[in-house]
This record gives sequence, structure tokens and C-alpha cells, in this order.
Amino acid sequence: FSYPMPVNEPVYSYGPGTAERAALTKTLAELKGQLADIPMYIGKEEVRTGKLQPIFPPHEIAHKLGHFHAGDESHVRQAIDAALAAKESWANMTWESRANIFLRAADLIATKYRYHMNGTTMLGQSKNAFQAEIDSACELIDFLRFNVHFLSEIYKQQPISGPGMHNRTEWRPLEGFVLAITPFNFTAIGGNLPTSAAMCGNVVVWKPSNSQIYSAQMFMRILKEAGLPDGVINLIYVDGPTIGNVCFNHPDFAGVHFTGSTGVFNQMWETIGKNVANYKSYPRIVGETGGKDFVIAHNSADPAVVATALLRGAFEYQGQKCSAASRAYIPASMADKVRSLLAEGIDSFKMGIVDEFGNFINAVIDEKSFDKITKHIEEAKNGEGVKIIAGGNFDKSKGYFIQPTVIETTDPMYVTMCKELFGPVLTMFVYDDNDFEKALELVDKTSPYALTGAIIANDRKAVELASYKLRNAAGNFYINDKPTGAVVGQQPFGGARASGTNDKAGSMINLYRWLSARTVKETF
Ligand code: ALA
Repeated sequence: FSYPMPVNEPVYSYGPGTAERAALTKTLAELKGQLADIPMYIGKEEVRTGKLQPIFPPHEIAHKLGHFHAGDESHVRQAIDAALAAKESWANMTWESRANIFLRAADLIATKYRYHMNGTTMLGQSKNAFQAEIDSACELIDFLRFNVHFLSEIYKQQPISGPGMHNRTEWRPLEGFVLAITPFNFTAIGGNLPTSAAMCGNVVVWKPSNSQIYSAQMFMRILKEAGLPDGVINLIYVDGPTIGNVCFNHPDFAGVHFTGSTGVFNQMWETIGKNVANYKSYPRIVGETGGKDFVIAHNSADPAVVATALLRGAFEYQGQKCSAASRAYIPASMADKVRSLLAEGIDSFKMGIVDEFGNFINAVIDEKSFDKITKHIEEAKNGEGVKIIAGGNFDKSKGYFIQPTVIETTDPMYVTMCKELFGPVLTMFVYDDNDFEKALELVDKTSPYALTGAIIANDRKAVELASYKLRNAAGNFYINDKPTGAVVGQQPFGGARASGTNDKAGSMINLYRWLSARTVKETF
């Protein structure tokens, strides 16, 4: 079963007057008119515990969209049992039949549930229509289709045989269950982490961020409609420490597929390390964690290109992409121009609810995030050697709205240059044009992360120097572009250092982690 390299799912524009805008508007109104009652999905059961937690749009906190049923330790155990019960028949199913389920799910999103995937993502995670479209429609569809392709290529790989001898590789799933822990910021990551492991024949316990449950359950229902057998992926809403306590103490724990914070990932490694002798096999630990992503401009760059890379790279989806530009290094000769372009850009951004399509900026995910980000903005208003050069307003009376903000500092180690805020804040440092090489060294040393970054320059020598000096500073390095918006199949995504294990999402590298090869030699 060979599945050729797919083409990327086309992106709908949702421009004024389009049929897709009308359809999405209708779906948004329907979703807002209902009160969703969201169960956990464990084995063949929809589990309703009665422990209800509300779901509301971060940009319209007075409007309840529904609630989910929260679980406890017993549900983690039930999910593991259901997964292990489903394991043998899932692993023994033909690869074609498994692949067809995920391809069907991709087609269902593309043709039947696109507006529901986008609608739940827009409302639950406060994403505008375009940001939702490139995430919960296109990227999710692409992950499913490209992973089927990559896996079909992996399965073809076989060793050489010789006279009187036949060798083969069996690409087995892992022994046990895989835990997928997924973040709020990308519905597509939420879909990819459980399905990439499941596609390889594994069974999965899936814990989404509470802020992602609204779209995650929509995807889960689509997987079921596509024919995913009961128990292969079990979707539960239990707090992280409880899940960790049960899963990381279980002898059948086979691996974790994680996207979230560096701190949580480090704790997982420690717990898994302590328990390592209790597992049947060494678990696979795959994580994409934080970022403090940079844009460095050289004085050969066009300031307009620099400003566009910064405005889009830093502020799309309110800066809540792990890939978002959050520190900028600008040569003194173009600093004034860049400052004014950034201020103009920010003034032109419309901010508000997602159902009004002109709003480029929506809300940040929750109150905790709002408070953390705005505390740093307040400090920058009063700090020494630091000032706000654009934006700086915020208000949480109706939703968690923070105006895109640019902080300028004379201290390259200022807190917002180094620490991940996960919000619409860009910090800028101006360097002397003659110190480009020193500025590159600063970029490399300022932060422990190494996820994404960009060099903007027209001088090819500057591009090459940056590319070399920053070879370890970013897993995704962009030349003359913003550092966000990796497309499946085009820019495999992930970083090293404190940003994760760099097992590139949507690539063969990632899929290999969910396979355990058996080499079989037969003589005759
Ligand atoms: N893959 C996402 C991006 O590149 C995080 O922006």
C-alpha cells in the first residue's frame, strides 16, 4: 500500500461575500446557540461524570458555550485498560485499513466538518477565521495525509537478503500504550499527537489542554465517524499531575507525545527516569516545548520586510504560537524606520471577537495568561532602560484582550528578551550596525530555547554568516520570512535545546519514534 506525497490542503480565504464565510458564520451562530455537553471518550463509552466545567470563549467570557465532564484517577485507569484491550486487534489490522480511517477523517474535515473544526477552534481558543483555517482545517488534514504517506515509505524499508537467507524488518508498534498531551494553541497539534502514534498501530490515552477540549472533542467525533475502533484513542479530561501519576507508574507505559511547557516536560523526564526499571521497555519521550524565537535584521534588509516579518511573526494569534517572534535585533541605522512601521502596523490592527471577521487580534487564552503578560507590560512601562514603543493597552472586562505591544530595551538580557511570555509582546534591542557578528552571538546566547528564528538581509554574506552562527539556535530557521507558519510537508517543525526533542512534527523522524523494529532473519 503506497500512498503518494499528497498536496497541501488548499486554504480558504473567508473573504467578504464568499460562500465559505457565509457557511462559517452560520456554524458559529449555531455553536453559540447551543450548550455543548462534552463527555470523555473511553473505549466504547461516552463518560459523563457530572463534574461539570464550563467552556466559554476567551474573548467573550460572559457567553457559555457548554461544559465538559471532568474525570479523576479512575478514568485514567479506565482509559489505559480500554487502550490495552483494543491493542491487539488494532495492531493486527492491515496497514491499509488503519490508514484509510485517518484518510477518511481528513476527507471528513475537508468536506463535511471544516466549519465545525474551525468554529470550535475560533470560539474555544479565540482564533480568527484565517488562523483557524490554517490550523484546524489545513494543518490537521495535512498531518493526517502526509503521515500516511511517510509511514507508507517507512514500511517499505527492508534490509538486503542473500542466497539461502531472507531478512526482513517488521515495523511493530510499541508494546504498551502511548500518552498524548496536547496544548491549547494548535488544534492540529492536538490532532497530530494522538493520531501519529495510533497510525503506527499504537493505542493512545489523549489528554488535551482544558482550553482545547471544545475542538478536541469535535475531532474525536470525526475520528469515530471515520471508523476508528473503540479504545484506540481515549480522550480524557483529568488534571496533568493525576494523569502523570497513573501513566508514569504503569508497567505498560510505552511513551509520551507531548507539546507544552519546558517545565512540565522536565518534570516528566524526572518521573519517568525514576520509574524506568518498572517499564517493559524504555519509553519514547517526544516533546515540543517552549520557544523564545528571534528575528535579526541586517542593515542590508528592507525595513518594510523586517516590519512585516515582525508584525505577522509576533502578533498572529496574539503571539501564542510556540514559533512566535518575541525578540528582535535591529541595526541602529534602520531602528527609527522599524519603530514607526511597527507602531503604524499595530495602530491598524483591529481587535475584538472572532465572529467579526475583520478582527486580526482576538483574546489571549485565559486570565492566568492575561495577568502574567500584562504584569510584564506594566513593569516595562516603569523600568529603567526600557520603554513601550507601541501598544501597551489591555482590558479583561469582557474578554482577555491585550493590545500587541513592542517593548524596547537597552539591555539584551532584559527579562522579556529571555523569558517566554506566550502573548502579543515583542521586545526589541537595537545594535550598532558594525556589531552584526556580536549581535548574532547575543541571539545565540540570550535564551535557552532553540525553536524558530529568522534573519532578514539582502546581503548574501550576512545570510550565510547568520545561518552558520545560529546553526544551533533554531530548529526552524527562516531567511527573509517570519519565523511562524510551518506547513506540513514543506517545513518539518521542531527545535532542540530547551525547545524539545526536535522529532519534527509531520515527518518520518516523528513516526519512527512510535515504531519498534523487529529484524527477522530466516535461513533455508
Ligand atoms: N507549526 C507552527 C508554526 O510554525 C507552530 O507556526
